[in-house]
Amino acid sequence: MLSKVAARSFSSSASAAYKVAVLGAGGGIGQPLSLLMKLNHKVTDLALYDIRGAPGVAADVSHIPTNSTVKGYNPDQLQEALTGADVIIVPAGVPRKPGMTRDDLFNTNASIVRDLAKAAADYAPKAALLIISNPVNSTVPIVAEVYKSKGVYDPKKLFGVTTLDVLRASRFVSEVAGTNPVNEKVTVVGGHSGITIIPLLSQTNHKDLDAETRDALVHRIQFGGDEVVKAKDGAGSATLSMAQAGARFAGAVLDGLAGEKDVIEPTFVDSPLFKSEGVEFFSSKVTLGVEGVKTVHPLGQLSEYEEELVKTAKETLIGNIKKGVDFVAQNP
Ligand code: NAI
Repeated sequence: MLSKVAARSFSSSASAAYKVAVLGAGGGIGQPLSLLMKLNHKVTDLALYDIRGAPGVAADVSHIPTNSTVKGYNPDQLQEALTGADVIIVPAGVPRKPGMTRDDLFNTNASIVRDLAKAAADYAPKAALLIISNPVNSTVPIVAEVYKSKGVYDPKKLFGVTTLDVLRASRFVSEVAGTNPVNEKVTVVGGHSGITIIPLLSQTNHKDLDAETRDALVHRIQFGGDEVVKAKDGAGSATLSMAQAGARFAGAVLDGLAGEKDVIEPTFVDSPLFKSEGVEFFSSKVTLGVEGVKTVHPLGQLSEYEEELVKTAKETLIGNIKKGVDFVAQNP
């Protein structure tokens, strides 16, 4: 029997032809993310959807001469945007203003994500779904609950995008160590908000940083988003670096779907790691494959300091996840 990878390479999608839909494509993240997805050669069909502005973004991006068609969709065309999608990326929703935490966005973004998840479950239930909308620790469980209620939940296909934390970790550690950030690979685990963001510096070349430097670095990685929110002074949160992060993660998911080997990225998924302790979702390194999640990697060896961070993060995550689950139960 042919393996799935071999079978795929003989199928009509052998040349890695994929439809990617961006929901929220008119926004601060959505626009540059759409641009970056237009530059990904695995993408042959790019569907850009928003409640406003998507056709304009699509017309603009469509002039770039890569081998894909781009189409913009208005609010009454969500079904068309989603049908046939292999990957759906969701940066729809409101961003933070100075002084806000990601959790403060819950009231607005929970219903936006719930409604988009309902449509995705109906029109593209087998697509990989990449959630950028905050608070990720709660919006990902919201999507899972919606999919479960429709009987189409596949934990291998649902991802919370935490790649921006990985990017920031590389950048900030390089600034402290005086190294080239391109060569800095830091695994970031836990979740995507403040103290749930845990860079595993003990697994890098920088495990011997003194405690003060280490604490400051970890804090900067955890709260790096606040620097951007403050500097934008009310105009939103990270959009350009987030678009790069989203495009990198979506590219990795596509590489996995195409059967490429050893595609590994940290991401917030339905995870076996701490389920016995009641933590249903957790971010860790994940190998991406033709079915989506192939392997959820354990955290590996942690320092005592990191063990403590993980312990605290788990408590926060249980609350964040419950909030998402309860929201769908109360507002189906
Ligand atoms: P934005 O306000 O610039 O754009 C959001 C877009 O979503 C707008 O174009 C809006 O029309 C659209 N939208 C709203 N409701 C919609 C719906 N029901 N269907 C389709 N589109 C809808 O915001 P920005 O800066 O692009 O941020 C988007 C989200 O991403 C926020 O929730 C933000 O907190 C989150 N974010 C996540 C990060 C991460 O690391 N996961 C990093 C940075 C931001």
